[in-house]
Amino acid sequence: MLTDNHGRKITYLRLAVTDRCNLRCFYCMPEEGINWLGRAELLSYEEMLRVCSLLVSMGIEKIRITGGEPFVRKDMMALLNALAGIDGLKEISMTTNGVLTAPYIPELKSLGIKSVNLSLDTLDAGRFFSITRRDEFAAVMHTLDELLKHDMEVKINAVVMDGRNIEDIVPLANLTKNLPIGMRFIEEMPFNGDSHIYKGLAWDHLRILEHIRESYPEIHKVKDAPYSTSYNYHIPGHQGSIGIIAAYSRTFCGTCNRIRLTPEGELKTCLYEGDGLNVKNLLRRGIGDAELQQVLTNVIGHRAKDGWEAEAERKASDPAHESMASIGG
Ligand code: GTP
Ligand code: 5AD
Ligand code: SF4
Repeated sequence: MLTDNHGRKITYLRLAVTDRCNLRCFYCMPEEGINWLGRAELLSYEEMLRVCSLLVSMGIEKIRITGGEPFVRKDMMALLNALAGIDGLKEISMTTNGVLTAPYIPELKSLGIKSVNLSLDTLDAGRFFSITRRDEFAAVMHTLDELLKHDMEVKINAVVMDGRNIEDIVPLANLTKNLPIGMRFIEEMPFNGDSHIYKGLAWDHLRILEHIRESYPEIHKVKDAPYSTSYNYHIPGHQGSIGIIAAYSRTFCGTCNRIRLTPEGELKTCLYEGDGLNVKNLLRRGIGDAELQQVLTNVIGHRAKDGWEAEAERKASDPAHESMASIGG
């Protein structure tokens, strides 16, 4: 079992397979994109599989595929097929923007992937364009339909942005009336790749909840799953549930069971950490499994106690705020 220096069990790996994306979400990257990694800078699938197998043998039980947008990387399904074959891995899930996802849903199901998190910040095609700078609203809504038709568990992620999609909060919450989804509202974090100056958090989790409560006074708290990043709620009579993720307030660090592997092959023990462990260099220098296991155990044994501490350490060396697509969310 993998345990960090604060007694937290580590069972969950977020694996970002690419930094590239076919959208340009305002809260993630500038319109011109970011300085994309070249092919040789990315971890190869073979390298990812080696690290994942080792981490599973050490105690990782769940892998979530993120990006960038996972489906933008060539042959992503080949990677998923191989990951699905790792002995001891209990769950694979995925976070996607839904632009290219629909045709792959039957294959995802056949690999045993039961849940997909879909990014969708608005139900208005015009605002979708102004937030993502791409005209792909219809494709994403089609993916949502297909996911539900195939009985996938769906969580929708909406980043709450002052002045951009506040009018969408209630209509998005209302989706839970007839759809069995988890509708999650996320505090905006500063990882926007210099898309704009992050002026501090205008909409924290409490304000988001109060806003929903104005339209749905009967909304009530339900029990959160263990290690949940969201506070979860239900509106009586609705099929789905509502979640609020205090991603900036970082209220859930005390039970954080996650580590991350970035597209560039860095192991981060916190989303807010600056430079992580450069696993790619170790692999390319020919490190053996036993030694790699030791290095990984050591890094996990020196984990910041929470995202505030990780951020404070990061600021000392690198005040820049990179794109979420370079970290994997
Ligand atoms: P599951 O619990 O596996 O469903 O994953 P999730 O909901 O955390 O994953 P998802 O990729 O859908 O992320 C939703 C939001 O939570 C994104 O904005 C992530 O950046 C954010 N998030 C995920 N993990 C962490 C974390 O450890 N810390 C912080 N601060 N935010 C996180
Ligand atoms: N703040 C909060 N969430 C973000 N995401 C991307 N950038 C940010 C940000 N700056 C979310 C996406 C996606 C998830 C992986 O991370 O909406 O759903
Ligand atoms: Fe792409 Fe996700 Fe970033 Fe949007 S948030 S630009 S969908 S990586």
